[in-house]
Amino acid sequence: MTTFMKEEDACLLPTYEKFPFALERGEGCWVWDEAGSRYLDLYGGHAVALIGHSPAEVAEAVSLQARRLLFYSNLVYSRIRAEAAKALVGLCGEPGSQVFFCNSGAEANENAMRLARAATGRPLIVATEGSFHGRTAGALAATGAAKYRKGVAGLGSDVVHVPFGDLPAAEASIGAATAGVILEPIQSLGGAVMPPAGYLKGLEDLCRRKGALLIFDEVQTGLGRVGERSAALAFGVRPHLQTFAKGLGSGVPAAATLAVADAAAKVRPGMLGSTFGGGPLACAAVAATLRTLSQRRLWENAAAMEALIRETFRFPRIKEIRGKGLLLGLVLDGPTKDVRKALLEKKIIVGGADDPNVIRLLPPLTVSAGEIGLLRDALAEIFASRTAAA
Ligand SMILES: Cc1ncc(COP(=O)(O)O)c(C=O)c1O
Repeated sequence: MTTFMKEEDACLLPTYEKFPFALERGEGCWVWDEAGSRYLDLYGGHAVALIGHSPAEVAEAVSLQARRLLFYSNLVYSRIRAEAAKALVGLCGEPGSQVFFCNSGAEANENAMRLARAATGRPLIVATEGSFHGRTAGALAATGAAKYRKGVAGLGSDVVHVPFGDLPAAEASIGAATAGVILEPIQSLGGAVMPPAGYLKGLEDLCRRKGALLIFDEVQTGLGRVGERSAALAFGVRPHLQTFAKGLGSGVPAAATLAVADAAAKVRPGMLGSTFGGGPLACAAVAATLRTLSQRRLWENAAAMEALIRETFRFPRIKEIRGKGLLLGLVLDGPTKDVRKALLEKKIIVGGADDPNVIRLLPPLTVSAGEIGLLRDALAEIFASRTAAA
């Protein structure tokens, strides 16, 4: 532990378990620590390094914008905000869709639920067990994974949780008072849990029949990660509202709630608001990120790398590969903690999940076949040494 690490621990609330190193530089799928060692980051800095770490296009757009005008609020028009909004609607929306910009995934979900309540005049939200939607009160109330809500008071009773994947349970819970149904199309933190065939489409039909709005939390699944521009497009479902965050600004805090025309129709000035949301710096990062993502059609690489992983990660200890595109869960035959530690010793970063048997891969969508091969080889060595030791 260096002096500044000790200072960080002394001065920050101890809310995070940390890797035992400090990073100072990143490029593509790689990050470098202060000692100059490089790590292959297949966790993508918590799924944020969507088009790679510190992409030059974004760094340049942000520094140019910082020198021009760091900030002015939503009370004035902004050329770069228009560009960012148009790019997001073009990538993930349908004609007539509109965007509200904010700063984090939790906020984007709060705003989506508020819009659903405003559009329907109804109070209740249906959410799914095992989900994660963020840490602010409303987003946490919708979060179905109980451990995040444990000991938190004041979350209200206006959210009902139903099992993920259970259409009859959803049907029984969506009633005349239901404003919206919120879910992650693929539960990421839960362990890359896929929706059963027909489930998402069934929810869309249910929502339309019962006058509730369908909200897809695409904070992790959106923006090309699942091998399509959005999970909605990948599964052929039309949610009324979608939320995006994580890699939207390549690390500059940025998030968005995207509403189809019907859901947007009742929005009036003052209904939603944010000081920093839609600010010029964030929008410069969003516009540059989405431009690069679209020009390089990076979702196609996500689909190709998924196919490669499924083809080449054939180890007896991997029982199943869950997820889609580059949101993948390697389900092992037991807890993954030691394997993740051994990977870190080989300077490869991967993620865990609420399911202790799952290794989550959320690499930049630019990841190459060679880089995937490095993980494969490392896993082969680790599994072989453990078999030999056993
Ligand atoms: C699916 C999903 N929704 C919402 C959030 C919350 O996003 P944020 O941490 O930006 O508030 C996360 C964060 O990991 C997430 O994975």
